[in-house]
Amino acid sequence: MITGTGITKTYKQRGNLLGGRDVQALRGVDFAIEKGGAVTFIGESGCGKTTLGRIVAGLETYDSGEIVIDGTPMSGLRHRQRQAYFRRVQLIHQDPYSALNPTRTIHQTLHAPLALRARQMGRSKAWAEERARELLTLVGIDPGYVLPRYPHQLSGGMRQRVVIARALTVDPEVLVADESVSMIDVSLRLGILALLKDLRERLNVSVLFITHDIATARYIGDDGELYVIYRGQVVERGPTEAVISGPVHPYTQALLSAIPVLRGVERPGAERVVPTEALDERHADTGCLFARRCPFRTERCESERPSLDGTGHGHACFHPRPRAVIPVEASA
Ligand SMILES: Nc1ncnc2c1ncn2[C@@H]1O[C@H](COP(=O)(O)OP(=O)(O)OP(=O)(O)O)[C@@H](O)[C@H]1O
Ligand code: SF4
Ligand SMILES: [Mg+2]
Repeated sequence: MITGTGITKTYKQRGNLLGGRDVQALRGVDFAIEKGGAVTFIGESGCGKTTLGRIVAGLETYDSGEIVIDGTPMSGLRHRQRQAYFRRVQLIHQDPYSALNPTRTIHQTLHAPLALRARQMGRSKAWAEERARELLTLVGIDPGYVLPRYPHQLSGGMRQRVVIARALTVDPEVLVADESVSMIDVSLRLGILALLKDLRERLNVSVLFITHDIATARYIGDDGELYVIYRGQVVERGPTEAVISGPVHPYTQALLSAIPVLRGVERPGAERVVPTEALDERHADTGCLFARRCPFRTERCESERPSLDGTGHGHACFHPRPRAVIPVEASA
């Protein structure tokens, strides 16, 4: 299990001619990823999702707060010890075109980490060879076909599966999948979602999904936890279905209200929430971070910052209220 408490991260901007400002990418984030669980971070571009994902994977430092992996706080450890813990968390690069070394065959790509693993576990070279075949089979591709080939000889979907197989070579406990905006095509995306869901069930590995798309959150995490992030703060958190079907924070409601009405048979929810202004990071460093854009703000919201309350389904809002915001089926 991995928990984070009060994680903050500020990027220092070197002074530029336009007047550089520090960016508060994360402002005291708490999270918990249970073994075998599914957690999704959702929010609009620049809210801090990737920063948080990279911190969970040990690829980015944080300014304050604590990360605890399987009961061990990371802050007291030396770099090498910390790396050993963070090896349990593997980030899956979602662009299969740049994630694999084009000059290496798939055999070479998988062999290096598996040979190391074999040495660590006191296993033979033959074990490493067998494990490569096993992992490729697990991710749904034919080892005999892909092992001798180079990445450019494979389809995008196969490359994506090789990337996942490579992540599995170290027997991770958590897979982090960051679905960037510039994501590969939709069919590949659905394939990887289905595979990760399957691996979660078969290997009991936890999955951390990072997305800006509610449909993805719903697909991957129907029994998981959803964290809605706004400007570096978790503003609503809870069981995915509970948050999506009964959002109480105006920002979550605005995010859900923006879901397009796709099939033409739905009507937008009766109480859709539309922000009163466009996002402008420069505002509201006191008070609620959403205040300038929130149709429901009061004086209190402008002077005081709400914090995330309670356990279970929680929110950071002084005036939470359930609203019917998502599309409903039009009656005939
Ligand atoms: N290395 C960096 N140096 C300076 N600022 C950074 C750096 N990485 C991220 N930021 C800033 O921190 C904030 C959060 O960025 P982050 O990449 O975590 O957002 P995100 O939610 O993943 O966005 P997206 O959906 O576009 O991927 C942004 O304002 C971004 O510009
Ligand atoms: S605290 Fe106030 S401004 Fe912030 S989201 Fe809630 S109602 Fe809106
Ligand atoms: Mg990102």
